[in-house]
Amino acid sequence: MTSTLLRARLLSFRALPEGLDDHASYLYLEDGGLLIRDGVIADIGPFPDVKARAGDGVSVIDHRPHLILPGFIDTHLHFPQMQVVGSYAANLLEWLNTYTFVEEQKFVDPAHSARIAVRFFDELVRHGTTTAVAYCSVHKASADAFFAESLRRNMRMIAGKVMMDRNAPEGLRDTPQSGYDETKQVIADWHGKGRNHVAITPRFAITSTPEQMEMAQALARDYPDLHIQTHLSENHGEIAFTRELYPQAKDYTDVYAHYGLLGPKSLFGHCIHLSDREADAMSETGSVAVFCPTSNLFLGSGLFGLKRLSQREKAVRIAVATDIGGGTSYSMLRTLDEGYKVLQLQGERMTPLESFYRMTLGNAEALGLADRIGTLEIGSDADLVVLDARSTPAMALKMEVVTTLAEELFLMQTMGDDRTITETYVAGRPAKSGLI
Ligand code: GUN
Ligand code: ZN
Repeated sequence: MTSTLLRARLLSFRALPEGLDDHASYLYLEDGGLLIRDGVIADIGPFPDVKARAGDGVSVIDHRPHLILPGFIDTHLHFPQMQVVGSYAANLLEWLNTYTFVEEQKFVDPAHSARIAVRFFDELVRHGTTTAVAYCSVHKASADAFFAESLRRNMRMIAGKVMMDRNAPEGLRDTPQSGYDETKQVIADWHGKGRNHVAITPRFAITSTPEQMEMAQALARDYPDLHIQTHLSENHGEIAFTRELYPQAKDYTDVYAHYGLLGPKSLFGHCIHLSDREADAMSETGSVAVFCPTSNLFLGSGLFGLKRLSQREKAVRIAVATDIGGGTSYSMLRTLDEGYKVLQLQGERMTPLESFYRMTLGNAEALGLADRIGTLEIGSDADLVVLDARSTPAMALKMEVVTTLAEELFLMQTMGDDRTITETYVAGRPAKSGLI
């Protein structure tokens, strides 16, 4: 058995912080010890105690004065859009048709898929993200490349072959039958291999015929334990087109409800323009609304009502995500910084404690995976991020006047990026230092 003892300041959330004074919502150890054995957290506590329990001979890695948190979790992004980031478009549908659908066609080529997969995981690790929920392209080759690379790195990943059979170029269309068959094959090939999870992934109502939605429903019935991911209510043009395509539905959310796709394992990207009826339907089914601030601002989609949705009587579950390549940064720090501003524009607040909860335990809870990731609890996967609040000269200068943990977190969210990530541990293995 291989054991490593990390020494650092440790922060792990236990619940959504109710405010800046909610100290019960997290564990913070000023001189902490975190024992990793066989890729799992084996002990945590004050460093001298953990060291004594670990016995002689355990190797110690000293990360002081840095701060260790559970690795960041990104609940929505697109693997085939690494070369779409920063494409100049007026809105979602123009952006999809002009750039995204062109780029994604290249993933029919296994060699291209494999090359981008390496770069994709490098970028996640560089930014401290240890679990992501990704869309592949419509091609099975893209899912194969994604999961092979994830397996090679022993990362906990959730991803799916996109199902899309209309309103897209021929090179990006499957059929109801082939989308069903290939998704089944991806599940057989990859689900449960290493730490891989497969998600049922109809892209959105516009690119799936009712026949394909029925196939997605059949998959959801066949595999009730799998996550489902799609897009919902991002842009007014998208909503209007969806209403034309599904005239019988009460609204956009009802399209997915009709095909049995709402539920506690269902992740809906964006959810910006939901009516009260739609929010009720999301809440009653335990569905998750995924907030993608850099994308929503970049594409001009609108302001996500995080507090409106999460604090209504019928609360909607929330996750946060980058949405690369509509999103503009791989960094969850940059993402929550933009998220903070989206709330500011609506007269709402998000404390830094809440932000860091959302990047870690909050997203793990949204995925139903809090028993494995998102905390520093004993028995959890040793997926960790080591943060340096003095990672740039400007941040180091500001740190001279920072006196509390919340202020330090807020500084890292406001000014931090990949430079703030000193190390990323994947299943106990230092993964970032090997990249740079
Ligand atoms: N809706 C359907 N596909 C996409 C996508 O790739 N990105 C975003 N932001 N929205 C979508
Ligand atoms: Zn998306």
